[in-house]
Amino acid sequence: MLDSRLNDGLRGRHALTGDAPVWDLEALPDDPAVLFAEWMEEADAAAVPEPHTATLATVDAEGVPDARTLILKRVDARGWAIASTRSSRKGAQLGAVPAAALNFWWQPQVRAVRVRGRVEEATAEESAADLAARSPSARARVSEGDWVLWRIVPDRIEFWQGSHDRRHTRVVYVPVGSGWSHTVSVE
Ligand SMILES: Cc1cc2nc3c(=O)[nH]c(=O)nc-3n(C[C@H](O)[C@H](O)[C@H](O)COP(=O)(O)O)c2cc1C
Repeated sequence: MLDSRLNDGLRGRHALTGDAPVWDLEALPDDPAVLFAEWMEEADAAAVPEPHTATLATVDAEGVPDARTLILKRVDARGWAIASTRSSRKGAQLGAVPAAALNFWWQPQVRAVRVRGRVEEATAEESAADLAARSPSARARVSEGDWVLWRIVPDRIEFWQGSHDRRHTRVVYVPVGSGWSHTVSVE
């Protein structure tokens, strides 16, 4: 009963049903953070729900992966910042293996962003400032010194936009020297 309802239903579902915006591939910025800012503005304009939430993947000391939803705190030249408690599973995993991936999926626009790289812990002052900016009720559940701001320092950022004709567009940025290079593929 469960098997056929779930699995027949899964087979019959559609994906990539949103409306992809026009994406000018001739006008890609050199910096992926600039493109992300543009996409975030377009997501807001299209009323994408909570576009700043993402799936954060980590691995534990045995190499077993894990993933959960998180809020993106900030993007700048130092990296993509997220925050949580050191005492959490992700905190232990980031302590053991300081690397992570972040995945955004904006269904209404058929857009996804993938970020991966090593992870650096922010200073105690920065983590304390992030905690101080949270609501009193959110702060109340965190013990002294447990709140940590981490930055993913990307070695690859992929912007992906699906198409109804299945010719999906992928723009991949990788760091080169002090800047970035990018490649475009449509397939
Ligand atoms: C939309 C959404 C946003 C979330 N944002 C955060 C966050 O910014 N930080 C956090 O620690 N947990 C956040 N959570 C909870 C995490 O998904 C997760 O359940 C929790 O952090 C424990 O994860 P862990 O056991 O892998 O450490 C969020 C959950 C949702 C659904």
